[in-house]
Amino acid sequence: MATAVTEAQATSAPIKQTKILIGNRWVDSVSGKTFDTINPATGEVLAKVAEAEAADVDLAVKAARKAFHAKAPWRRMSASERGKLLNRLADLIEQNADELATLESLDNGKPRHVARAADLPLVIACYRYYAGWADKIQGKTIPVSGEYFCYTRHEAVGVVGQIIPWNFPLLMQAWKLAPALACGNTVVLKVAEQTPLSALRVGELILEAGFPEGVVNILPGYGPTAGAAIANHMDVDKVAFTGSTEVGHLIMKAAAETNLKRVTLELGGKSPNIVFADADMDQAIEGSHFALFFNQGQCCCAGSRLFVEEKIYDEFVERSTERAKRRTVGNPLDTKTEQGPQVDNDQFKKVLGYVESGKKEGAKLMCGGERVGERGYFVAPTVFADVKDEMQIAQEEIFGPVMSILKFKDMDDLVERANKTIYGLAAAVWTRDITKALNIANNVRAGTVWVNCFDVFDAGAPFGGFKQSGIGRELGEYGLQQYSEIKTVTVKL
Ligand code: NAI
Ligand code: MG
Repeated sequence: MATAVTEAQATSAPIKQTKILIGNRWVDSVSGKTFDTINPATGEVLAKVAEAEAADVDLAVKAARKAFHAKAPWRRMSASERGKLLNRLADLIEQNADELATLESLDNGKPRHVARAADLPLVIACYRYYAGWADKIQGKTIPVSGEYFCYTRHEAVGVVGQIIPWNFPLLMQAWKLAPALACGNTVVLKVAEQTPLSALRVGELILEAGFPEGVVNILPGYGPTAGAAIANHMDVDKVAFTGSTEVGHLIMKAAAETNLKRVTLELGGKSPNIVFADADMDQAIEGSHFALFFNQGQCCCAGSRLFVEEKIYDEFVERSTERAKRRTVGNPLDTKTEQGPQVDNDQFKKVLGYVESGKKEGAKLMCGGERVGERGYFVAPTVFADVKDEMQIAQEEIFGPVMSILKFKDMDDLVERANKTIYGLAAAVWTRDITKALNIANNVRAGTVWVNCFDVFDAGAPFGGFKQSGIGRELGEYGLQQYSEIKTVTVKL
């Protein structure tokens, strides 16, 4: 049962910043408007936050453009100095990790201890990783005809617009800011309206680290207003977006209809998680549970189509159901909690809508399927068996704690079924047979494949989607390409 967050806990939220960051100053919105950010564990308002719209985006783009001027401090700074600033930011985040984990938990609903142990270390590692790259981004010399000397420069793209979602607010901020800044860009970042608080606190740390004026601008606000203003802005050189596939289409269209700004997208998924009969059962059951339920099921790469081999299907369903029933749902500030609330009422209703759809289409509800408690947006861990490929719950991104288990007979039709989706973000396979593992790894159309593990992330390992799961890759050396322009210089000798 959910234990509600007490008023005392909610009001002790260390909320230090609720304004817009433009040109290294904290400002109110041009309109003076604010919006409420909610604690999803209680439904109560945590804070009123300045609401950025098109006029604020315009001011932020101007500040970012000024900071990108050839004579501005950011452009005159050595690359290793940029790395030093990123390392200093990583240090400051580390020093404030407890506070940031609390903010993340209050605003998003994820268990505080999970934010502290999983999200924060990845955030810090991401800034450090790209700090190391800052002075190692090099061009080449090209052996053209002997009369000429030819070389390439990897230059910053310019003013980069970034739009991030609410499921991993701090981590998505790091994935966006770190490579962009390592490459020398300036940034206008719009944070998700559901979870602005931790990103704004990092904004304070960015100032404390000593980033020059206008290099990082952070705007809380809504998608159709502030987000669309970034995607449509004529003076934004690139837009990087993480969120729904639906909005990904809008971003690309906006870029096409305005200035052909570069577009990278990290979108939805419906990732196949495949369990063969020869897998280590304990590992596969716990791993598949984690693959789906981690972060309240709110992961773009969630293993949300769980294909289990016929021979072990019944046992697997029974044990997965038993594990889901044991999952502890409740107060995100309690260290025993495995699952907090969904991020908001919209997502809560969306998830319960999919449960109804699963029941109606004839999937077998093994457990869960209902709300937990009377307040907040808690959903009981839910397992559906006998799920068929064409059911809505097997096709669409649920983004909640709802496991769909499908049955397969052998390898033959498995790969085709696994690939029968508009998405291609991730996949996983559980087996002791290297041939089966590599067959899946080679033939599944997805940007990431995990073998006998799931959700293993590292700042050095690229992540991104095939098909409608996205365009481009984040993290690793590949992530740098998305934030650089290649310039060819040819000199007559
Ligand atoms: P969304 O795609 O609307 O929101 C993500 C970000 O885009 C937010 O910052 C939002 O303000 C912004 N945005 C929304 N409309 C925009 C527009 N017209 N122009 C520019 N920016 C815009 O996703 P939402 O509504 O929060 O969630 C809906 C579904 O999207 C979820 O149920 C889930 O299936 C999927 N999703 C996927 C995520 C991922 O990590 N790939 C993250 C969040 C949601
Ligand atoms: Mg919130």
